[in-house]
Amino acid sequence: MTTSIQIKSLDDYQRVYRYSLEKNEEFWDNIAKNQLHWRKPWSRVSQCDYLTGHVSWYLGAELNVAENCVDRHVHAGKGSKKALIWVGNEPGEEKTFTFQQVYEEVCRIAHALEALGIKKGDRVGLYLPNIPELAFSMLACARIGAIHSVIFGGFSAHSIQSRMNDCGAKLIITSNGVYRGEKWIDLKTNVDEAIAIGCSTIANVLVIPHRSQSRWERQLRDLNWNEVLQPFKPHTAPSHLSEDPLFILYTSGSTGKPKGVLHTMGGYLTYTSYSHQLVFQPQDSDVYFCTADLGWITGHSYLLYGPLANGVTTVMYEGVPQYPTASRLWEITDQHSVNILYTAPTAIRTLASLGDEPVVKTSRKTLRTLGTVGEPINPEAWRWYSSVVGEDRCPIVDTWWQTETGGILISPLAGITPTQPGCATLPLPGIEPKIINESGEALKGDGQGALVIARSWPGQMRGVYGDPEKFFDTYFRQYPGNYSTGDGARRDSENNYWILGRMDDVIKISGHRLGTAEIESACVLHSDVVESAAIGVHDDITGEALHLFVVVKSGAPETPDLAKALIQLIRKEVGPLASPKKIHFVPGLPKTRSGKIMRRILKKLAVQEFSDLGDISTLAEPSVIELIKKAVITER
Ligand code: WTA
Repeated sequence: MTTSIQIKSLDDYQRVYRYSLEKNEEFWDNIAKNQLHWRKPWSRVSQCDYLTGHVSWYLGAELNVAENCVDRHVHAGKGSKKALIWVGNEPGEEKTFTFQQVYEEVCRIAHALEALGIKKGDRVGLYLPNIPELAFSMLACARIGAIHSVIFGGFSAHSIQSRMNDCGAKLIITSNGVYRGEKWIDLKTNVDEAIAIGCSTIANVLVIPHRSQSRWERQLRDLNWNEVLQPFKPHTAPSHLSEDPLFILYTSGSTGKPKGVLHTMGGYLTYTSYSHQLVFQPQDSDVYFCTADLGWITGHSYLLYGPLANGVTTVMYEGVPQYPTASRLWEITDQHSVNILYTAPTAIRTLASLGDEPVVKTSRKTLRTLGTVGEPINPEAWRWYSSVVGEDRCPIVDTWWQTETGGILISPLAGITPTQPGCATLPLPGIEPKIINESGEALKGDGQGALVIARSWPGQMRGVYGDPEKFFDTYFRQYPGNYSTGDGARRDSENNYWILGRMDDVIKISGHRLGTAEIESACVLHSDVVESAAIGVHDDITGEALHLFVVVKSGAPETPDLAKALIQLIRKEVGPLASPKKIHFVPGLPKTRSGKIMRRILKKLAVQEFSDLGDISTLAEPSVIELIKKAVITER
């Protein structure tokens, strides 16, 4: 039967889609055989039960993820092909690595990790900028079977500490620091602070002197990358089981602390390479540029693992889209003849707000496909991306997925699926979405409700690290027999999916995912605060902006100084990416009789939309609304 690669028209897609659900096991059996090199075949394609929250794929099979992403292309004669083009923060700063060179770097790091006593199953924290060493370290962990956990550089010492303790990491690899635009971020100091607060499992900190001009303070446990790494020696890639853990990536949910989303080797790599190929339709000679940071799932799946498994040249950029000018992404595109660009709506909106001139003065003639991910894209931004950047000749793939899904689930296939602004269109073959209405029934035809996925796919997360109950409770309890995404969606009469955004307490700021609970628990650490509520309010550039409603202790001053102190506290506890845009001091919070904060009402009050607050009959104390209104109107 056909594999993903042979879908060339909408008819092909429809045919393969039907087949993928009718003969689901056979479909995924074929895909895995075609996408990857396996050392030992599986005894069973999958064993999944959503009623108990059990997911496993390619049982008993063996492979090596790094070998699939690197060695196999070298063996296939592609050793001199460019694998990674790294573009630094400053224009002109760049490095290129062929597949052979990536192979050598990954072998060097794999040997170094082994020499430091890192074994299969050990956890390794990676708190690094978007630099080649991060990509190679991830692959080196995968090679030896160590489980990597990358922490985005915008997280604070406290966030590092709680993540490293949760997964019991033995080693952290970091660098002295990084420039993002004009801002220097001192990563090493954050790691030192995290360890000072308490990371008892960490034996060593391996430091990459990324910018040689800046020094770092050497502690006893610190090791210098340049001293630890030895000259290249081949490294024999061991076989790992398909279901051996590949990585843990922390992500925010509705409640509690961020969860350690666990992905495993065989299914994840099968799915990321399959979806990368199907959605972006890369050709062998293409240059593919994903602007994401490796600290997020998009970086994992579509900057590193997906494209490299497919042998595609991948571009990695250290900086931000508008530095030093708003032409930067298009200059990189021209310099490296980029064919496929994958970025986030926030970047598109930021660049659109700076006008067409920085775009139109560049050529962009090599661009063929444009992608977007991470949050709903408003039709205006979509049109600008399509007409100004893509000159109306590049299809836009609006890709919907999540950290938990490992890869893209709903998206146009480039050049194949008809697109519309703001529409994620159709599910990939093998993916069966459903829309559930308020009475818990799955809708037929068009309609709107909770988006769930009715059956498993190989890229699905396997668990919340160390907390199987949380895995079941979060994703499988609410809609029995289905994976619950937390998103709302509308399906039109043509079966297209329009993603409406989160239905829970997850906030997306510039595409970065934050939970209300982690922000609120940071805020209440302040001795003047009784309670607080975090909400996302619409923002033209960042999609959502963080607003915080704060109730202070009686007698405590509601001053700009206190607001500043709370912002500082949240930056310290969570990280600069969680800075509130606005703090509203209020006398109380709207709550249901069972004590749940009604954020829906706060979202309206925050923007002084008082006329239609919706149903407020479940409020425990309706009088609080008038008090909040008064406070919001009189605030400066
Ligand atoms: C949102 C990012 C609309 C959605 C890969 C999802 C989107 C959450 C889209 C996951 C899209 C992602 N259109 N919304 N194309 N892509 N989202 O885990 O709310 O950082 O649940 O993964 O982002 O965010 P995460």
